[in-house]
Amino acid sequence: MLQLSPLQKARTHYVPQVLEILQEMEQLDFVESAPPEPLELFPNLSPFGSLMAKRGKALNFQPLQIGVVLSGGQAPGGHNVIGGLFDAMRILNVESRLVGFLGGLAGLLKNKAIEITEDVLQSYRNQGGFDLIGSGRTKVETVEQFQDALQTSQVLNLDGLVIIGGDDSNTNACFLAEYFLQKGSKTCVIGVPKTIDNDLQDGQVEISFGFDTACRIYSETIGNVARDALSAKKYYFFIKLMGRVSSHIALECALQTKPNLALIGEEIQARGKKLSQVVDEIVNLIIERAKVGKDWGVILIPEGVIEYIADLKSLIKKINKVLATGSPITSKLETLSQIQEKVSFIRSHLDKDALETFDLLPLLIQEELLLERDPHGNVQLSQIETERLLISICENQLREKAKKGEYKGKFAAVPLFCGYEGRSAMPSFFDTNYCYNLGRLATGLIARKKTGYITTISNLAKEVWRWRAGATPLAHMMHYEEREGKSKAVIKKAFVDLKGAAFHAFVQQREGWRLDDCYSQPGPIQFFGPEEFSDLRPITLTLLHGND
Ligand code: FBP
Repeated sequence: MLQLSPLQKARTHYVPQVLEILQEMEQLDFVESAPPEPLELFPNLSPFGSLMAKRGKALNFQPLQIGVVLSGGQAPGGHNVIGGLFDAMRILNVESRLVGFLGGLAGLLKNKAIEITEDVLQSYRNQGGFDLIGSGRTKVETVEQFQDALQTSQVLNLDGLVIIGGDDSNTNACFLAEYFLQKGSKTCVIGVPKTIDNDLQDGQVEISFGFDTACRIYSETIGNVARDALSAKKYYFFIKLMGRVSSHIALECALQTKPNLALIGEEIQARGKKLSQVVDEIVNLIIERAKVGKDWGVILIPEGVIEYIADLKSLIKKINKVLATGSPITSKLETLSQIQEKVSFIRSHLDKDALETFDLLPLLIQEELLLERDPHGNVQLSQIETERLLISICENQLREKAKKGEYKGKFAAVPLFCGYEGRSAMPSFFDTNYCYNLGRLATGLIARKKTGYITTISNLAKEVWRWRAGATPLAHMMHYEEREGKSKAVIKKAFVDLKGAAFHAFVQQREGWRLDDCYSQPGPIQFFGPEEFSDLRPITLTLLHGND
């Protein structure tokens, strides 16, 4: 059994701030705007327009039955969404029942659930992790899976199903909502925007929950490591940051900590940079700093950077296609035990260009590219040690430069990965409040029989009392994308906007960070004390939405 620390205990007593509109749950109603163009794939959801919360006529509600799923990677604040759901349901009718499906959507399909009561929930309030009910990456795709989901919702007589997840999980939510309507089911499906990656932004979805806390945890580490680099004066820290394909986390952490260099995947792609050019950028920085007597530094690397490097990206695409789930090549590869065998087998399925790039990579990285994929068929980017790849290529280049007399410094590099520790951290004030309100809003939507929506709270750069609640139709967030070699309808991922205010602010400052050491040390997340240290907002959120 978990033993709560004194801080954890203190946090269980924190009462989140609630938006005024979400305080009187019985009166919570919505104004709907006209829907955009009709969608062939979602005939039943198509007519639904965006919603804005408003105060309506107070109603008496029958007891609600709601099921909740945590889906995908952990993100700080998940337990607070559940807390918000639960409290709001009880306000509407004290007989309401909340069940939590175990282990993600797999729990829904198999009807594996626990009832969430105040006793169960109490020690999870305002805590990190997803361990109350667990999570998973099961995708609902087959006819049988849809039938199983429907059956569970009928057996449990669910008024609502809340799927707390990222782009893939909300894609599932959208398809389930359409299917339930088609089958005449009363179960409303509502998505909640979760992912530390922050790549689920769309109009009213300003930020996904968990991003703020994760970036603060990583920035604390980066700030501390930078201070160590400055003190010891002998190491280059190559810090890879989680965040899958997009570089939102790297950008936010760069703005918080001011490293000597931060790679932004989207920029690398826009400039069509090859691996050798990215390496040159790092090597040049190291040489220039050595000239002013600095053999230390901090370099941030987004997890997905290799997908953006033109020659590596095309290689990964080809490998993803060759190794699509269920293909005979994948089955054959799985029978091979030695890595050398796997590598030569895959080489025989790559074309000349792909082969050239593949052969440039150290064996370690080749091996990582062939590792098992996630259920969505993607290379598991978090498993690829980009930081070591870059260190190893930079080392070789610097050795060559030194032989030619072009580099006189000493290069000692330390790789670091900021990843899992940020995903289950105790949520910041921002995530604590944001998530709790998202939960209450989800209950309100179900109570008013809204389905196929993602909860949205906007104006988040401002104080809580100025936040605005609403919902966006999931069907209108979909587009077609190639997955596992096939074109599929999925929710569009949001990438760093190179024309946006956040990237612009970074570009304006970064030149000054290269040779000067401007490192900022944000320190740990604060749960007590003045709001100027504790109730903060991500810098990127403020830059992008502070003037809305
Ligand atoms: P979600 O998109 O599901 O929120 O997951 C985010 C993430 O933390 C990524 O940043 C990371 O690449 C991935 O999950 C790691 O996945 P896993 O938990 O399977 O190692």
